[in-house]
Amino acid sequence: MNDLSGKLALVTGSSRGIGRAAGLIMASCGAKVLFHGVRESEKLSSAVAEAGNGAEALTADFGNMDEVRALADTLKKRSMIPDILVLNASVQSYTGLGNFDSEEFCRMFRTNVESSCILLQELLPEMQKRKSGRVIFVGSINGIKPASRLAVYGATKAALLNVAKTAAMENAPYGITVNTILPGVIETDRNAAALSDKEFADKLKAMIPMHRFGTAEECGNLITFLASDEAAYITGAEIPIAGGWQL
Ligand SMILES: NC(=O)c1ccc[n+]([C@@H]2O[C@H](COP(=O)([O-])OP(=O)(O)OC[C@H]3O[C@@H](n4cnc5c(N)ncnc54)[C@H](OP(=O)(O)O)[C@@H]3O)[C@@H](O)[C@H]2O)c1
Repeated sequence: MNDLSGKLALVTGSSRGIGRAAGLIMASCGAKVLFHGVRESEKLSSAVAEAGNGAEALTADFGNMDEVRALADTLKKRSMIPDILVLNASVQSYTGLGNFDSEEFCRMFRTNVESSCILLQELLPEMQKRKSGRVIFVGSINGIKPASRLAVYGATKAALLNVAKTAAMENAPYGITVNTILPGVIETDRNAAALSDKEFADKLKAMIPMHRFGTAEECGNLITFLASDEAAYITGAEIPIAGGWQL
Protein backbone atom coordinates (compact mmCIF):
# COMPACT_ATOMS: atom_id res chain seq x y z
CA MET A 1 0.00 0.00 0.00
CA ASN A 2 1.01 3.63 -0.59
CA ASP A 3 3.87 2.70 -2.93
CA LEU A 4 4.84 5.97 -4.60
CA SER A 5 8.00 4.71 -6.31
CA GLY A 6 8.77 6.66 -9.48
CA LYS A 7 6.32 9.47 -8.64
CA LEU A 8 7.24 13.15 -8.50
CA ALA A 9 5.42 15.11 -5.79
CA LEU A 10 5.32 18.88 -5.33
CA VAL A 11 4.18 19.89 -1.86
CA THR A 12 3.71 23.63 -1.43
CA GLY A 13 4.54 25.07 1.98
CA SER A 14 6.56 22.01 2.97
CA SER A 15 9.48 23.56 4.84
CA ARG A 16 7.43 23.12 8.01
CA GLY A 17 4.29 21.64 9.52
CA ILE A 18 1.76 19.56 7.63
CA GLY A 19 3.44 20.00 4.25
CA ARG A 20 6.80 18.89 5.59
CA ALA A 21 5.29 15.79 7.23
CA ALA A 22 3.43 14.92 4.02
CA GLY A 23 6.60 15.35 1.96
CA LEU A 24 8.68 13.19 4.28
CA ILE A 25 6.08 10.41 4.41
CA MET A 26 5.68 10.43 0.62
CA ALA A 27 9.47 10.30 0.24
CA SER A 28 9.57 7.30 2.59
CA CYS A 29 7.01 5.67 0.25
CA GLY A 30 9.36 6.15 -2.71
CA ALA A 31 8.38 9.54 -4.19
CA LYS A 32 10.86 12.17 -5.28
CA VAL A 33 9.59 15.22 -3.42
CA LEU A 34 9.89 18.88 -4.31
CA PHE A 35 9.78 20.77 -1.03
CA HIS A 36 8.75 24.41 -1.13
CA GLY A 37 9.04 27.44 1.12
CA VAL A 38 8.76 31.21 0.73
CA ARG A 39 12.52 31.48 0.72
CA GLU A 40 15.56 29.37 1.41
CA SER A 41 15.81 28.39 5.05
CA GLU A 42 17.47 25.89 7.33
CA LYS A 43 14.11 24.12 7.73
CA LEU A 44 13.64 23.82 3.97
CA SER A 45 17.10 22.40 3.37
CA SER A 46 16.80 20.02 6.32
CA ALA A 47 13.51 18.66 4.91
CA VAL A 48 15.25 17.98 1.60
CA ALA A 49 18.18 16.30 3.35
CA GLU A 50 15.91 14.17 5.55
CA ALA A 51 13.76 13.06 2.60
CA GLY A 52 16.63 12.01 0.33
CA ASN A 53 15.54 10.12 -2.78
CA GLY A 54 16.48 13.04 -5.05
CA ALA A 55 14.35 15.59 -3.16
CA GLU A 56 14.82 19.24 -4.12
CA ALA A 57 13.93 22.64 -2.71
CA LEU A 58 11.91 25.31 -4.52
CA THR A 59 11.09 28.81 -3.32
CA ALA A 60 8.34 31.28 -4.21
CA ASP A 61 6.21 33.78 -2.34
CA PHE A 62 2.65 32.84 -3.25
CA GLY A 63 1.54 36.38 -2.49
CA ASN A 64 3.30 37.33 -5.72
CA MET A 65 1.77 35.78 -8.84
CA ASP A 66 4.91 36.41 -10.92
CA GLU A 67 6.80 34.14 -8.51
CA VAL A 68 4.08 31.48 -8.72
CA ARG A 69 4.20 31.49 -12.52
CA ALA A 70 8.00 31.45 -12.48
CA LEU A 71 7.93 28.35 -10.28
CA ALA A 72 5.55 26.60 -12.71
CA ASP A 73 7.71 27.69 -15.68
CA THR A 74 10.82 26.26 -14.04
CA LEU A 75 9.09 22.92 -13.59
CA LYS A 76 7.85 22.90 -17.18
CA LYS A 77 11.27 23.86 -18.59
CA ARG A 78 12.87 21.04 -16.62
CA SER A 79 10.10 18.59 -17.66
CA MET A 80 9.33 18.11 -13.99
CA ILE A 81 5.56 17.92 -14.08
CA PRO A 82 4.40 16.52 -10.75
CA ASP A 83 2.39 13.32 -10.59
CA ILE A 84 1.22 14.49 -7.18
CA LEU A 85 0.44 18.13 -6.44
CA VAL A 86 -0.26 19.00 -2.81
CA LEU A 87 -1.58 22.56 -2.48
CA ASN A 88 -0.83 23.18 1.16
CA ALA A 89 0.82 26.61 1.55
CA SER A 90 -1.34 29.32 3.09
CA VAL A 91 -1.25 32.44 5.19
CA GLN A 92 -3.57 33.07 8.07
CA SER A 93 -4.30 36.12 10.16
CA TYR A 94 -6.93 36.88 12.72
CA THR A 95 -9.10 39.10 10.58
CA GLY A 96 -12.83 39.10 11.20
CA LEU A 97 -15.55 40.85 9.27
CA GLY A 98 -15.21 43.88 11.53
CA ASN A 99 -11.47 44.39 11.32
CA PHE A 100 -10.02 43.39 7.96
CA ASP A 101 -8.51 45.88 5.54
CA SER A 102 -8.46 45.48 1.78
CA GLU A 103 -4.73 44.91 1.58
CA GLU A 104 -4.82 41.99 4.03
CA PHE A 105 -8.01 40.62 2.45
CA CYS A 106 -6.35 40.56 -0.98
CA ARG A 107 -3.08 39.16 0.37
CA MET A 108 -4.91 36.18 1.87
CA PHE A 109 -7.00 35.54 -1.24
CA ARG A 110 -3.97 35.88 -3.52
CA THR A 111 -1.76 33.59 -1.44
CA ASN A 112 -4.35 31.00 -0.48
CA VAL A 113 -6.60 30.90 -3.55
CA GLU A 114 -5.14 32.60 -6.64
CA SER A 115 -1.74 30.90 -6.33
CA SER A 116 -3.42 27.46 -6.28
CA CYS A 117 -5.56 28.37 -9.30
CA ILE A 118 -2.44 29.46 -11.20
CA LEU A 119 -0.58 26.25 -10.37
CA LEU A 120 -3.60 24.26 -11.57
CA GLN A 121 -3.85 26.35 -14.74
CA GLU A 122 -0.15 25.84 -15.49
CA LEU A 123 0.32 22.21 -14.48
CA LEU A 124 -2.99 20.42 -15.07
CA PRO A 125 -2.78 20.51 -18.89
CA GLU A 126 0.58 18.72 -18.63
CA MET A 127 -0.82 16.20 -16.13
CA GLN A 128 -3.81 15.60 -18.41
CA LYS A 129 -1.48 14.46 -21.19
CA ARG A 130 -0.35 11.62 -18.91
CA LYS A 131 -3.94 10.63 -18.10
CA SER A 132 -3.15 10.28 -14.42
CA GLY A 133 -2.38 12.42 -11.43
CA ARG A 134 -3.31 13.47 -7.96
CA VAL A 135 -4.17 16.91 -6.63
CA ILE A 136 -4.67 17.25 -2.89
CA PHE A 137 -5.78 20.52 -1.36
CA VAL A 138 -5.12 21.22 2.27
CA GLY A 139 -8.22 23.13 3.28
CA SER A 140 -9.44 23.69 6.80
CA ILE A 141 -12.37 22.93 9.04
CA ASN A 142 -12.74 26.74 8.97
CA GLY A 143 -13.84 26.37 5.35
CA ILE A 144 -17.03 24.64 6.52
CA LYS A 145 -17.32 25.81 10.12
CA PRO A 146 -17.25 29.57 10.63
CA ALA A 147 -15.01 31.17 13.25
CA SER A 148 -15.48 34.91 13.75
CA ARG A 149 -11.80 35.73 14.25
CA LEU A 150 -10.87 33.82 11.09
CA ALA A 151 -13.62 35.07 8.78
CA VAL A 152 -11.38 36.05 5.85
CA TYR A 153 -9.11 32.99 6.18
CA GLY A 154 -12.23 30.77 6.39
CA ALA A 155 -13.58 32.42 3.24
CA THR A 156 -10.36 31.59 1.38
CA LYS A 157 -10.66 27.95 2.46
CA ALA A 158 -14.35 27.84 1.47
CA ALA A 159 -13.42 29.25 -1.95
CA LEU A 160 -10.82 26.50 -2.38
CA LEU A 161 -13.48 23.83 -1.78
CA ASN A 162 -15.34 25.09 -4.82
CA VAL A 163 -12.15 25.28 -6.88
CA ALA A 164 -11.30 21.70 -5.88
CA LYS A 165 -14.74 20.40 -6.84
CA THR A 166 -14.59 22.11 -10.23
CA ALA A 167 -11.13 20.68 -10.86
CA ALA A 168 -12.31 17.21 -9.73
CA MET A 169 -15.22 17.31 -12.17
CA GLU A 170 -13.15 18.59 -15.08
CA ASN A 171 -10.22 16.21 -14.57
CA ALA A 172 -11.97 12.94 -13.72
CA PRO A 173 -11.97 11.89 -17.41
CA TYR A 174 -8.17 12.18 -17.37
CA GLY A 175 -7.78 9.87 -14.37
CA ILE A 176 -6.71 12.81 -12.23
CA THR A 177 -8.27 12.88 -8.78
CA VAL A 178 -8.73 16.09 -6.79
CA ASN A 179 -9.52 15.90 -3.09
CA THR A 180 -9.41 18.18 -0.07
CA ILE A 181 -8.44 17.38 3.47
CA LEU A 182 -9.93 19.57 6.19
CA PRO A 183 -7.61 19.72 9.20
CA GLY A 184 -8.97 20.82 12.56
CA VAL A 185 -6.45 21.98 15.14
CA ILE A 186 -3.07 20.53 14.24
CA GLU A 187 0.00 21.26 16.34
CA THR A 188 2.39 23.17 14.08
CA ASP A 189 4.46 26.38 14.18
CA ARG A 190 1.37 28.25 13.00
CA ASN A 191 -0.55 27.88 16.24
CA ALA A 192 2.29 27.14 18.67
CA ALA A 193 2.02 30.56 20.32
CA ALA A 194 -1.78 30.39 20.69
CA LEU A 195 -1.71 26.81 22.02
CA SER A 196 1.01 27.61 24.54
CA ASP A 197 -1.74 29.37 26.52
CA LYS A 198 -2.86 26.34 28.54
CA GLU A 199 -6.24 27.77 29.48
CA PHE A 200 -7.04 28.51 25.81
CA ALA A 201 -5.70 25.11 24.68
CA ASP A 202 -7.80 23.27 27.29
CA LYS A 203 -10.94 25.17 26.25
CA LEU A 204 -10.30 24.29 22.63
CA LYS A 205 -9.67 20.61 23.42
CA ALA A 206 -12.96 20.50 25.33
CA MET A 207 -14.78 21.51 22.13
CA ILE A 208 -13.18 18.70 20.10
CA PRO A 209 -14.97 15.36 20.53
CA MET A 210 -11.64 13.50 20.74
CA HIS A 211 -10.34 16.05 23.28
CA ARG A 212 -6.95 16.37 21.63
CA PHE A 213 -5.21 18.18 18.80
CA GLY A 214 -4.00 16.42 15.66
CA THR A 215 -0.46 15.97 14.41
CA ALA A 216 1.15 16.94 11.15
CA GLU A 217 2.00 13.25 10.62
CA GLU A 218 -1.67 12.26 10.84
CA CYS A 219 -2.41 14.77 8.06
CA GLY A 220 0.63 13.57 6.11
CA ASN A 221 -0.61 9.97 6.26
CA LEU A 222 -4.00 10.96 4.85
CA ILE A 223 -2.38 13.03 2.09
CA THR A 224 -0.12 10.09 1.22
CA PHE A 225 -3.08 7.72 1.01
CA LEU A 226 -4.95 10.14 -1.29
CA ALA A 227 -1.81 10.30 -3.45
CA SER A 228 -1.61 6.52 -3.77
CA ASP A 229 -2.98 4.11 -6.36
CA GLU A 230 -5.29 2.72 -3.67
CA ALA A 231 -7.23 6.02 -3.68
CA ALA A 232 -7.78 5.99 -7.46
CA TYR A 233 -11.59 6.07 -7.23
CA ILE A 234 -11.84 8.89 -4.68
CA THR A 235 -12.34 12.31 -6.21
CA GLY A 236 -14.17 15.48 -5.25
CA ALA A 237 -14.05 14.41 -1.59
CA GLU A 238 -13.69 16.67 1.44
CA ILE A 239 -12.26 14.74 4.33
CA PRO A 240 -12.21 16.26 7.82
CA ILE A 241 -9.18 15.27 9.91
CA ALA A 242 -10.24 17.02 13.05
CA GLY A 243 -11.04 14.58 15.84
CA GLY A 244 -14.74 15.12 15.14
CA TRP A 245 -14.62 18.92 15.48
CA GLN A 246 -16.70 19.29 12.31
CA LEU A 247 -19.68 17.60 14.02
N1 LIG B 1 -2.12 23.90 11.77
C1 LIG B 1 -3.43 23.85 11.80
O1 LIG B 1 -4.04 23.76 12.89
C2 LIG B 1 -4.23 23.91 10.53
C3 LIG B 1 -5.62 23.75 10.64
C4 LIG B 1 -6.38 23.79 9.48
C5 LIG B 1 -5.77 23.98 8.27
N2 LIG B 1 -4.44 24.13 8.19
C6 LIG B 1 -3.86 24.33 6.86
O2 LIG B 1 -2.81 23.42 6.67
C7 LIG B 1 -1.81 24.00 5.82
C8 LIG B 1 -0.46 23.90 6.50
O3 LIG B 1 -0.55 24.51 7.77
P1 LIG B 1 0.65 24.42 8.82
O4 LIG B 1 0.07 24.67 10.16
O5 LIG B 1 1.45 23.20 8.57
O6 LIG B 1 1.49 25.72 8.38
P2 LIG B 1 2.86 26.33 8.93
O7 LIG B 1 3.50 25.43 9.94
O8 LIG B 1 2.52 27.73 9.29
O9 LIG B 1 3.77 26.32 7.60
C9 LIG B 1 3.41 27.14 6.57
C10 LIG B 1 4.12 26.74 5.29
O10 LIG B 1 3.65 27.60 4.24
C11 LIG B 1 4.73 28.36 3.73
N3 LIG B 1 4.28 29.72 3.46
C12 LIG B 1 3.96 30.68 4.35
N4 LIG B 1 3.67 31.83 3.70
C13 LIG B 1 3.79 31.59 2.39
C14 LIG B 1 3.69 32.39 1.22
N5 LIG B 1 3.40 33.69 1.29
N6 LIG B 1 3.95 31.82 0.02
C15 LIG B 1 4.31 30.51 -0.06
N7 LIG B 1 4.42 29.70 1.01
C16 LIG B 1 4.19 30.24 2.22
C17 LIG B 1 5.82 28.34 4.82
O11 LIG B 1 7.10 28.53 4.22
P3 LIG B 1 8.33 29.23 5.07
O12 LIG B 1 8.82 28.20 6.05
O13 LIG B 1 9.35 29.58 4.03
O14 LIG B 1 7.75 30.43 5.75
C18 LIG B 1 5.62 26.93 5.38
O15 LIG B 1 6.25 25.98 4.57
C19 LIG B 1 -2.27 25.43 5.56
O16 LIG B 1 -2.94 25.50 4.35
C20 LIG B 1 -3.25 25.70 6.70
O17 LIG B 1 -4.21 26.66 6.34
C21 LIG B 1 -3.64 24.11 9.29
